[in-house]
Amino acid sequence: MNDQVKVLVGAQWGDEGKGRAVDVLAKDADVVVRFQGGANAGHTVIAGGKKHVFHILPSGMLYPGRTCVIGNGLVIDPDELEKEIAELDPKPEAIGVKLLISYAAHIVMPYHKKMDALAEAARGEGAIGTTGRGIGPCYVDKYNRAGIRAEDLVSPRTLEKKLRTVIDEKNPILEKVYGAPALNFEELYELAARWGRFIGPYLGDSSLEIDSAISSGKRILFEGAQGTLLDIDHGTYPFVTSSSCVSGGASVGGALGPGRFGRVIGVVKAYCTRVGEGPFPTEDFGEAGKRLRESGAEFGATTGRPRRCGWLDLVALNYAVKVNGMDTIALTKLDVLSGIGALKVCCAYELDGKEHTAFPSSATILMDAKPLYREMPSWDEDISRCRKFQDLPKEARDYVRFIEESTSVRVGMIGVGPGREDTILLDI
Ligand code: IMP
Repeated sequence: MNDQVKVLVGAQWGDEGKGRAVDVLAKDADVVVRFQGGANAGHTVIAGGKKHVFHILPSGMLYPGRTCVIGNGLVIDPDELEKEIAELDPKPEAIGVKLLISYAAHIVMPYHKKMDALAEAARGEGAIGTTGRGIGPCYVDKYNRAGIRAEDLVSPRTLEKKLRTVIDEKNPILEKVYGAPALNFEELYELAARWGRFIGPYLGDSSLEIDSAISSGKRILFEGAQGTLLDIDHGTYPFVTSSSCVSGGASVGGALGPGRFGRVIGVVKAYCTRVGEGPFPTEDFGEAGKRLRESGAEFGATTGRPRRCGWLDLVALNYAVKVNGMDTIALTKLDVLSGIGALKVCCAYELDGKEHTAFPSSATILMDAKPLYREMPSWDEDISRCRKFQDLPKEARDYVRFIEESTSVRVGMIGVGPGREDTILLDI
């Protein structure tokens, strides 16, 4: 397998523990690239007993000498980014970490966040449950060719021209549609110019950086955010985020042709969670769901919202395997299942009285899917000290093997606890 370029994606509804998996993989990478999303993500890494949550920065920022790239596919909230950089410990300059921000990444402006909140409120019962980070409205402007790109922040004439157009377009919508206050040009310009002074030194051409890294034999890791089932095209639309979270998104948002890609790693939590609204066939509303939330600390890293919890869904996982061309599974949080009692895995759905093993990505159809479970024996042992596959109790090994058999994808890594070292490494 070509391991020079690896792509890591979430295989479920986000929160699979990608930060953790990236952290393990970043050890062997020279360049780590985020390729989509923005501050809606929250990748948690526990290193040296300390918790770090990355929202916009790539999770490789803690490894000395790495180059970390914020790709063109991102939407950046500069205030969040500034805060994140300030909170980094150790400091990037102290450990020789280079941060490069693509000049073509888009900027989340204050009006995007405002419009995210206003649109959610207007949706009423049909609300998506967004993170409120302005992600959707910012991508709308990008695709409408009305967005502010990172490069514009350091180009006063372009910035002024674009912001004047923004004001002309958005103020009638804000005032007449939502009854909200109008935007003020001077305030926006001043803020954007300040952001430019902070972001300017990091700006560069990420495609050139990645291309030259490849030519000199360096190893690249593309770090996805959110998850396959939240993908704008392949997820449970409209209850999705506004970017391409699947492996293909790494090519567009990370500026590298797909022919260069090697291993595609899907991060799979040993059970399922979801935040926000939308269908979730294996959601457990009873004791098991509650227990998973508590043992797995299933509260949003970005919003603090309690996550909806349920059983592993192999129908959805097999779909994610295909859409991403997944070669390897990074299985996380297996320890959370210790002592769960009756362990269930969804192997098919019942729809219109028939059994289905193909995942309907349509939210409308999925709302009616009834999960068909297989019960498996569980284990009570604390597995957090297991470092080899053979150290796991037989029932846990059987669970992992069952996932492999059902997906025809090998499990290359197993997370057995929250810390960096709580990992069984197989082949990743
Ligand atoms: P948005 O990305 O803020 O527009 O939110 C759209 C949907 O994606 C909502 O259901 C969010 O809860 C969900 N979402 C966005 N980012 C994440 C994430 O990093 N983890 C899990 N869910 C997310």
